[in-house]
Formats: sequence, C-alpha cells, structure tokens
Amino acid sequence: MGMCATEPCKWLGPLGSHVARLIHPCPQWPYCEKRCSYCNFNKYIPRGVEEAAMRSCLVTEARTLLRLSGVRRVESVFFGGGTPSLASPSTVAAVLEAVDQASHLPADSEVTLEANPTSAPGARLAAFGAAGINRLSIGLQSLDDTELQLLGRTHSASDALQTLAEARRLFPGRVSVDLMLGLPAQKLGPWLQQLHELLGHCDDHISLYQLTLERGTSLFTQVQRGTLPAPDPEVAAEMYQEGREVLREAGFRQYEVSNFARNGALSTHNWTYWQCGQYLGVGPGAHGRFVPQGAGGHPREARIQTLEPDNWMKEVMLFGHGTRKRVPLGKLELLEEVLAMGLRTDMGITHQHWQRFESQLSLWEVFGSSQEVKALLMQGLLLLDRRCVGELGGACQESQGALAVYPQTQEKCKRPTRRGPAGAGGFILVESEN
Ligand SMILES: C[S@@+](CC[C@H](N)C(=O)[O-])C[C@H]1O[C@@H](n2cnc3c(N)ncnc32)[C@H](O)[C@@H]1O
Ligand code: SF4
Repeated sequence: MGMCATEPCKWLGPLGSHVARLIHPCPQWPYCEKRCSYCNFNKYIPRGVEEAAMRSCLVTEARTLLRLSGVRRVESVFFGGGTPSLASPSTVAAVLEAVDQASHLPADSEVTLEANPTSAPGARLAAFGAAGINRLSIGLQSLDDTELQLLGRTHSASDALQTLAEARRLFPGRVSVDLMLGLPAQKLGPWLQQLHELLGHCDDHISLYQLTLERGTSLFTQVQRGTLPAPDPEVAAEMYQEGREVLREAGFRQYEVSNFARNGALSTHNWTYWQCGQYLGVGPGAHGRFVPQGAGGHPREARIQTLEPDNWMKEVMLFGHGTRKRVPLGKLELLEEVLAMGLRTDMGITHQHWQRFESQLSLWEVFGSSQEVKALLMQGLLLLDRRCVGELGGACQESQGALAVYPQTQEKCKRPTRRGPAGAGGFILVESEN
C-alpha cells in the first residue's frame, strides 16, 4: 500500500542539508514487446497498454515526489524501463512538462531515453527529439544475429545499426550503445571483431555489460538444463580486458567499470548515481533515494515504488504516489554507498567528495590504520594518497594535498555489471547545485 506523501518524517539523523541538494527521480516505462531471454528487470508484456492512464499516473507521481523532494531545478532526466521507446512521444513530453512545472527543467538539461532498436525507427526518434529527448541509449547488445536470437531480441544486427545511424543523425554526439559480453559459447576473437565493427558506427559513449545469468530467466534455465553451455568467466574477463584496451586506443575514457566515453560525452545522470547524489524513482518498481523536504536533519530515505503496473496506478490515483516501501538510511549506510559507488569510477573517492558526506573524519583517519585497507594497498588493489585529481588522470578539480582512495581500474578487472545503485532505467532528475 502506498504511504501518504505528506506523512511527517519520523527519522532523525546526523546528515546535514548540504548533501540534500542533489536529487534524481526515477520513473519507469515497465512494458516490453517480448521477454528477452536474459532479462529479469521489472517488465511486463501487456495485451494492451492504457497509455493515457499510465501517462497521467507518471505525471502525478513525478509531481508528488518532486514536491516532496523540494527540488527547484532539475539537471537531467532519464527515461528507462522496460522499453520506454514503446511509450508515445506525447507521454514523454507530458512528463517533461510536469517536471518543468513542478521544478524547473533548463533547456540544456540532459534528457535521455533508453531505446530498443525495433521500437525506435527514425520517425519515432525524431518525435522523441521534438518531445524533449536530447540523448539516446540504444540496447544494441550484439552485432551477431545468432547471438541476438539467443538473447531473444526482436531486432537484427542491421536493424540495430540502422537505428544507431538514425540516432546519430538526430542526436549527434549524444548516443550511447549497450554491448553485452560473456554470452554462452561466445568466443573472444569474434566478440572483439564485433567491438571493432561497432567502433566504425558508434558515437561517443559505449556501455559494456557482462551477462549476468539471472535466476528465473529462460537463459538461466537453458544453462541449468545443459541445453546451453554456461558462460566461461575466464573468457568474459579476457573480453573485458581486451575490450577496454580497444576502447582506450580508440580514445574512450573508462570513467566507470562498464562505461566508456570520448569527447567528454559522460552520462550526467549515471555519474550522479556514482557520486551518491539523490534521485526520485517514478513509475512501477522504480527506486529512489532522497531526503524529503522538511525532514530537517533527517536521513536520506530509500523508496521503492509498487512493482506491478495496475496496482501502482491504483495507488497513484489514491495517494498521489505508489511508494511501497520507505527505508531510512543511516549515516553508515550512506558512507558505505559513497565508497562502493565511488570505487566504480576512475576518479575514486576524493577527499573533497568524502567530506561532503563526512566532515569530521578524513579518509586517512577512517582507513589509514585499517589492516584490511593496508592489505589491499599492498596488493595494489587500492590507493590511498595525497595527490590531487589532476595527477590521477582526470580533470584537476581538487586542491593539492587532497586525499584520494581510488581503484586502479586500469590494471585490475572489476566485473562490468549493468547494476547501478538504482538499477538501470527510470527517469533521473538531478538538481543542480546553483
Ligand atoms: C533496462 S535494460 C534495457 C533497455 C531496453 N529495454 C533494451 O532492451 O534495449 C538496460 C541494459 O541492461 C543490460 N542488461 C539487461 N539484463 C542484463 C543481464 N542479465 N546481464 C547483463 N546485462 C543486462 C542490457 O545491455 C540492456 O541494454
Ligand atoms: S532487455 Fe529490455 S527489451 Fe528485453 S525484456 Fe529486458 S527491458 Fe525488455
């Protein structure tokens, strides 16, 4: 059952308001044409979608949560799913209008739509552009038709490349593609060939995702029954290592475990996730994390929206939102997230970033004498030092003498999962600092 949006917050905590300034709401378009064989996202294959009702509920919930968050200016929006490119451009436009009215959505905000190739031919992409979308994330997954069939995709490699070309024409410099690796029976050489082929077509952003065999998916069952070979983790690790090298040589910066960008085309909304910014989850199954307005010193809450679309809609109509669960996050949990998220990025956790969440104890004070940290330092898996960010290879935004803990992502292989703090997808709105 949804909770009343105006219910006074019961949780007192030590977090200051300075960390409550960034926020991201995340609504979802939960529908897909077909179930992909590997996917365990919260998605539904409907006989018919009551789009007007869904649109009205997304708008209502976005308004409610924005009001609760107290956000006055939004920096980025991310439409995820499910397959949000199946929604009408008018639905996207309605949500963006609501966001702009409830807070303010400046014209230069990053507004991304996840697009599945078959549901996004050129004319629809143009209509999404007219609705306010200015960045696309295309689920290409593979450039091999046999692999695409294995994955249960509804598109061929040539459909995907055609969509990519259209997308680049309409959104130059602002198109990302997802490529999977570590599929059953997939070999290193052919996968690298796919990556090279992709480089001939792609724009400035690529995400590499290692297949996670998810319980309950058809791929999982086939592997369990022995009708498909289990993916070989060693081969997947080689793909990842070699793939990173290929992308590095092509001028891409690996700014996160799974994400690569060149020409500064980093994803603003995802970056904010990894910086532990706040976000609002809007739509069935969306997750959010924010400090409700008026909570005065209260901690951030984790909010989970009702999973099933029809139940979620009923709750939104009754309560203005379909929040199923609210969990207060203590300071320790938040700091754990700051570490876990920051270590996914090439910047790691700078002293300044850490201080935004913990102003009393420095990174050195917390970790300097830890035996576990010492062991990781000895193994070269972690670095705790006093250099500024510029010396670590990123843009120098920190003063000299800053402390940084960061992973040596160039040397050590982390698993390239698609999992971010909120799961993939949703609408993510980021309030700017100004
Ligand atoms: C929300 S999903 C898909 C967006 C869109 N519906 C599509 O399929 O193109 C975002 C990305 O997560 C990745 N993904 C989904 N399930 C995965 C799994 N089990 N293992 C690895 N990556 C996965 C896919 O690359 C996908 O493009
Ligand atoms: S991968 Fe995308 S299109 Fe396929 S079932 Fe999952 S959300 Fe839907």
